[in-house]
Amino acid sequence: MRRTRRERSDELPFPLNHWYVGALRDEIGTVPFARTLLGRPVVFYRPTAQHAVAVAGRCPHRGYPMSRATVVDGGLRCGYHGLTFDETGICRSLAAHDGVAERARLRSFPVLEAGPFVWVWLGDPRLADRALLPCGAEVGFGQAGWRTDATGYVNVRARYAMLCDNLLDTSHIDCVHAGSLGRAPLTFQQTIAPSRERIGVVRESRGNAAALFTYLLPGCTGPIDVTIAAEFCGPGFIVAVRTEFAHAANGRPAERIATMAFVHAVTPESETSTHYFPAFVRDFRLDDEPFTAEMNARNLIVAREDQAAVEAIEATPGVADRAGGFSLPGDEVALVARRELARLVDREQ
Ligand code: FES
Ligand SMILES: [Fe+2]
Repeated sequence: MRRTRRERSDELPFPLNHWYVGALRDEIGTVPFARTLLGRPVVFYRPTAQHAVAVAGRCPHRGYPMSRATVVDGGLRCGYHGLTFDETGICRSLAAHDGVAERARLRSFPVLEAGPFVWVWLGDPRLADRALLPCGAEVGFGQAGWRTDATGYVNVRARYAMLCDNLLDTSHIDCVHAGSLGRAPLTFQQTIAPSRERIGVVRESRGNAAALFTYLLPGCTGPIDVTIAAEFCGPGFIVAVRTEFAHAANGRPAERIATMAFVHAVTPESETSTHYFPAFVRDFRLDDEPFTAEMNARNLIVAREDQAAVEAIEATPGVADRAGGFSLPGDEVALVARRELARLVDREQ
């Protein structure tokens, strides 16, 4: 009887044919860097300064961890019996004619670098396409006139779906982030509408006093319109708060002032742990390094507060049986995202 992917012990129920962030760019160097992604051991390294490589984290001979390999001539030399694999995974230390070399393949994974991240494709390599990167032009990711700064890396001891729930749910802010964000100044009337292109919500408010935002936009005067979106852009990437500032339109075409976004790369590690890479994207104050440092420091504090919240839930006995609980209207986006994740998994069965 054919087993489903869920039933095979070494595989986890996550959609595979997607780009996931495996590491921050500056985590990867000339020595092997190991990380478990979607339940699979993966090793990254740089054969040259210009490019990164990802391969399976276990030697195909006897399963020795490739994190203990050494980089030799751009390839990896296993630390157990010394077999050496090039960056495509071909074993270069066995003669091709002995019939073993063909089977002695170390799996390699498509990799690309965009923004501060190293992305990896763990599914069918024939489907890996840069155009499928989940972060789009709307947040200016990787585009001229914008900058993206990684806030850091947080290993969250909670299941991936729970962290996604948290990042798509803005109704916990007053409670979980009271110490860092305080009560948001956005206490004015908000309208909530489904995002047109993606799973998410858009909140719009009109004609706010610019003084509310002078920290972010010094020199900005007059009333402004604010649009805030939280979106699920795919299994590996969430734009939690994309905020657009525009001069108050009052019925006229909007005149944009600035856009910023807190973006979150989320990659399952195991069934109950998640790699979390928060980042900050913006198209203003591009050369203001103190501003960058402060925003990232603030963002990391917020990320740690979310980490503590979801880890507390994960540590509560029986959490897997109660995932979801009852829902409030503010949970709608997370619920739609969960259904989308289940659909993506089913599609790959
Ligand atoms: S386990 Fe790697 S060469 Fe034998
Ligand atoms: Fe939060």
